[in-house]
Amino acid sequence: MDARRLQYLDAMGIQAWELRASVPARDEVRGARDAEPGDEVPAQLATRNPQPATPNEVAALDWTALQQRVSACTLCEELAATRTQTVFGVGDHQAQWLVIGEAPGADEDAQGEPFVGRAGQLLNAMLLAIGLKREQVFIANVLKCRPPGNRDPKTEEAANCEPYLRRQIALLQPRMILAVGRIAAQNLLKTDTPIGKLRGQVHRYGEVPLVVTYHPAYLLRSPGEKRKAWDDLRLAANTLQQGRGT
Ligand code: URA
Repeated sequence: MDARRLQYLDAMGIQAWELRASVPARDEVRGARDAEPGDEVPAQLATRNPQPATPNEVAALDWTALQQRVSACTLCEELAATRTQTVFGVGDHQAQWLVIGEAPGADEDAQGEPFVGRAGQLLNAMLLAIGLKREQVFIANVLKCRPPGNRDPKTEEAANCEPYLRRQIALLQPRMILAVGRIAAQNLLKTDTPIGKLRGQVHRYGEVPLVVTYHPAYLLRSPGEKRKAWDDLRLAANTLQQGRGT
């Protein structure tokens, strides 16, 4: 095991000896907030639909048209007024892995790319610990716009953005979805079950296997939970490797 790999594992809080028997080789496997559910939506922030972008229309868009549609989106008035830019997603369009987070933060809003701040650095280390470079996966978020002050996405904001993510998934056809954090997991699985109960098992998003793990921002605050995240990553990698997802 080379020194850099050891470094990534160290960032994950994993001892090198634990790995030898458990990690699939690279070729065998091809992901700040974790608050409680339940945002109420103030009436004055309720969104209108100024655009003729029905979910059916979005479901017919190709990748370029989808990207354009997202960058012009004003369905959530507050987010459209406060964002620097939309954050569509980044990575390999042929990737087997699709990592889905919550929403852009300040760094992502500034750079137009998901997971580029501190949480993103830990996400990169988590991926490398299972043998994946960031460029080998696709990374997106439930929301394409930054919620002001990094507040949690509102229910109707997630609903407005959902057709975009659904279309991204249909076009990318990933073989594994890694949902990072409570917001991503609950939105994708349409549940309010706590993340502690969602992780540790293989769910499905349509036909695609989906594994839930903790958000790297949460892991930065609670490094003692990295062990569980490591277990989740191995579950996802092993599921993919064994073809249980297909
Ligand atoms: N947190 C997320 O959930 N997504 C990002 O892109 C950045 C931080």
